[in-house]
Amino acid sequence: MRKIVVHEPGSHDKLRVEEHPDPSPARGEVLLDVRAAGVNYADCVVRMGLYESAKKYVGWPITPGFEFSGTVAALGEGVTDLALGAPVFGVTRFGGYASRVAVPRHQVFPLPARLTPEEAAGFPAVFMTAYYALFELVRLRPAMSLLVHSAAGGVGSALVQLGKIAGCRVVGVVGAAHKVEAARRLGADAVIDKSSEPLWAAAERLAPEGYDVILDANGVETLRQSYRHVASAGKLVVYGFHTMLPRQGGRPSYPKLAVDFLRMPRFNPLDLCNDNKSVLAFNLSYLFHRTEILREAMDRLIGWVEEGRLSAPPVKTFPLERAGEAHRAIESGSTVGKLVLTL
Ligand SMILES: NC(=O)c1ccc[n+]([C@@H]2O[C@H](COP(=O)([O-])OP(=O)(O)OC[C@H]3O[C@@H](n4cnc5c(N)ncnc54)[C@H](OP(=O)(O)O)[C@@H]3O)[C@@H](O)[C@H]2O)c1
Repeated sequence: MRKIVVHEPGSHDKLRVEEHPDPSPARGEVLLDVRAAGVNYADCVVRMGLYESAKKYVGWPITPGFEFSGTVAALGEGVTDLALGAPVFGVTRFGGYASRVAVPRHQVFPLPARLTPEEAAGFPAVFMTAYYALFELVRLRPAMSLLVHSAAGGVGSALVQLGKIAGCRVVGVVGAAHKVEAARRLGADAVIDKSSEPLWAAAERLAPEGYDVILDANGVETLRQSYRHVASAGKLVVYGFHTMLPRQGGRPSYPKLAVDFLRMPRFNPLDLCNDNKSVLAFNLSYLFHRTEILREAMDRLIGWVEEGRLSAPPVKTFPLERAGEAHRAIESGSTVGKLVLTL
């Protein structure tokens, strides 16, 4: 099998293509022939050596990749409900950038007819993240107002669509003019292009009382203001920190990381009570063993895809060998939708 291996933290040149023996599925696992593998911003953080759960579960060397589509190549002992050759997609706790991957049965799902294998490879990580934020952490009610940062990206696209399915009013924020139309097409009721107008003045104009839910993966650049713009009884969901990392060069600046760490807002429990607001945070990669959460999320997400209520974000593909190019693109902050590696 071919896979991308990162032996030590660093820039894009650390993504090496290597030949390795095929993994064999353990009891309860499924071996997949991977056709396409989704690229997530988190994969770049893994490559840079800054992703805590990668250190916890794998260490070095590591093959990045949280999601895939492909066909069933072999079944581990005890797995009897999948046919060899069946088209599937799913999630993996790392290791997705590979021609073969073995994962527990509960992380594999039948490929919906409405998704191409490339779309399916880029679907589960961002939609499960958005689902967990909106339907596990937050209890959405119709007509709630949502502010979604990076609304034309991977997770942002999913948050906008799921917010609309729940009947909410969704304001998307994007960092460049070419993303405005993409966020509108996903269903955003209003889009703020923060490259051409002051973000928070526009956000206040659109929701003078504040937002019921703000979803923020920017980190230090916006967290303080995001909290300030949450309405009474509202929730700030924190799920990423990408503004701490560089848009070019592929290596973190440790002085910037240190300064940003010190600038990071600290939320005081007394203030949270008196402000009547919540701050919630999570990382999906710690949840892959939670069978019931994964199954419920994917059942509902696949149902919405089959009903035509959810669509995959636009996908740009790169051959596996050009994974570095895909990382460079997503780190630039200019991409729309999802990037996917093809095998
Ligand atoms: N907690 C979790 O379980 C979880 C799961 C999946 C993803 N995430 C996080 O969610 C965020 C989005 O992930 P994604 O894979 O869907 O990526 P993405 O949104 O497709 O791309 C990242 C976007 O972030 C914005 N951005 C702002 N500052 C940036 C910087 N310094 N470098 C790069 N991008 C910057 C850009 O959009 P704008 O300029 O338009 O804002 C860019 O398009 C990431 O922070 C990721 O780590 C968290």
